[in-house]
Amino acid sequence: MKKSRILGVGHYVPERIVTNNDLSKMMDTNDEWIVNRTGIQQRHWFTPGVDTVTSMSKNASELALKRAGVTTSEIDFIIFATVTPDYFIPGNGVLLQRELGMGTIGALDIRNACSGFIYALSIADQFIKTGMYKKILVVGAEIQSSALDVSDAGRSSAVIFADGAGAVVVGAVETNQPGILSTHLHAQGEYAEELYCKDPGSSREVRLSPELIVSGSFNLTMNGNAVFKHAVVRFIEVIKEALDANNLSKSAIDLLVPHQANLRISQYVQNKLELPDEKVFNNIMHMGNTTAATIPIALSEAWEQGRIKEGDLICLAAFGSGFTWASALLQW
Ligand code: COA
Repeated sequence: MKKSRILGVGHYVPERIVTNNDLSKMMDTNDEWIVNRTGIQQRHWFTPGVDTVTSMSKNASELALKRAGVTTSEIDFIIFATVTPDYFIPGNGVLLQRELGMGTIGALDIRNACSGFIYALSIADQFIKTGMYKKILVVGAEIQSSALDVSDAGRSSAVIFADGAGAVVVGAVETNQPGILSTHLHAQGEYAEELYCKDPGSSREVRLSPELIVSGSFNLTMNGNAVFKHAVVRFIEVIKEALDANNLSKSAIDLLVPHQANLRISQYVQNKLELPDEKVFNNIMHMGNTTAATIPIALSEAWEQGRIKEGDLICLAAFGSGFTWASALLQW
């Protein structure tokens, strides 16, 4: 039996920065409201014709591979978490495989929105522990800005979501080495429509029509209050579940890297767990919420800033559309 360990992490965000003041020219909003309710000051949005989910994930993956000291030819499998793939069909994993020239290795797409990266990491962990694969590229990447309603009607979601990509290389190590200790995955489909993008759905006469476009059903729709209320409960639950499963107390955590949903949610979780500021990593202030990409982007930035050291106990936790929620506990 092997253990899996994150060998390297990288990220890439589009060059275009959109500030709260930029948003206030598109819709009825303002910097004060956005900062107070979400903590976000600016975010990156893609430039059509320049950035794609594939191009961003290629850049993030190349950095993760370089930092891991691993070449593309050593990677056995790709797991790609996104709800905003470049094509409706096929998924984005195959596009990244082609872009990186990775032969005919398998590529799997995960559609679990904000929890997608932890779901993907968990699958990588299982494949490595069984000995099926030795090195797996796990990616979270999104272009959310093209599905946002930037009119006044969509302002509560449009100010939150953003674009970017993060990637990790997960490799097999001996069981006495640091690595992934556990992952826990949950879902509750009764709340599917509280945060969703209805179209292009398949169960209607046509997937695409002028009427559907006008109806706004291609835009992301969110019941912000419901998301907030469930998120704060589930984040705490799933972190405690991870700690209990490993007989660890919350004080053992060296760094909590929560999905960057909203700064107020992260702060609530931090307070409930009584963690000091240096034990929680937030970058939503300049990144916004990039759905499946928030955790690998945050891990990459935390690593760059020296906030993660070898052997540190890192807790990852996420909550999002589905609803789905998940945690991963690992020693770096
Ligand atoms: N700018 C200015 N005003 C806005 C606004 C914006 N971008 N968006 C909403 N408002 C207004 C509303 O129209 C409402 O006005 P009214 O009182 O005149 O009707 C007022 O602000 C309060 O709206 P409400 O939706 O109740 O605000 P809220 O305090 O719940 O904050 C969210 C909205 C979205 C910030 C909050 O619900 C939230 O953070 N939810 C969690 C979202 C999240 O984390 N999503 C990611 C999940 S992965």
